[in-house]
Amino acid sequence: MAQKNIIVLVSGGGTNLQALIDAESRGELGGGKITCVISSKPGVFALERAAKAGIRTRVIVRKDYPDTAAYSAAMLDAFREEQADLIVQAGFMTILDETICRAYPNKMMNVHPALIPSFCGKGYYGLHVHEAALKKGVKVTGATVHFVTEVCDGGPIILQKAVAVQPGDTPEILQKRVMEQAEWKILPEAVRLFCEEKLSVQDDIVTVKA
Ligand code: GAR
Repeated sequence: MAQKNIIVLVSGGGTNLQALIDAESRGELGGGKITCVISSKPGVFALERAAKAGIRTRVIVRKDYPDTAAYSAAMLDAFREEQADLIVQAGFMTILDETICRAYPNKMMNVHPALIPSFCGKGYYGLHVHEAALKKGVKVTGATVHFVTEVCDGGPIILQKAVAVQPGDTPEILQKRVMEQAEWKILPEAVRLFCEEKLSVQDDIVTVKA
């Protein structure tokens, strides 16, 4: 099976990127290789993690472009230059338009810190997701990895993992537990399944081949 070039999109601390880097170094990405990390923000710690792992980085800043369409076009150019086989949004906080989803159908995935369809869509990102889960009083939350479509957080679900909410949780405590117990496990696992060509999608339903 040919090596797959993985581009990881980041905007912040990059702990999910780190989980992917660590999985690759253990040989657990199904032969996939993280060939480039693209950040929507300069100076974020995710860029340092990439540099330390010897991965090429690019910074493509949203406010340097007049609108989402122009920003998406610049991203698309970068994906093509990098010969991306898979694009992973790992804490990427900028919306891209439908041209990208159409150019990479079922080839772009995102990790979301809740059990979709709960606590997802516009405005649900980062700590806000955990604030909303605690406000609702849910007893179980978790994380989802899904393919990206033009519907925000609405694409085919690849993997999910549940995490218990504990009495006394703050958004920060819950975020950390969801990352440790769910995100850092299911994101590398979903990437491995993709690289091993074990994911198929029909009528928006993902099937994992044995
Ligand atoms: C993660 O919890 C990720 O699921 C979330 O932001 C955090 C980024 O952390 N993403 C979203 O909310 C996207 N809607 P990281 O930079 O340490 O990986």
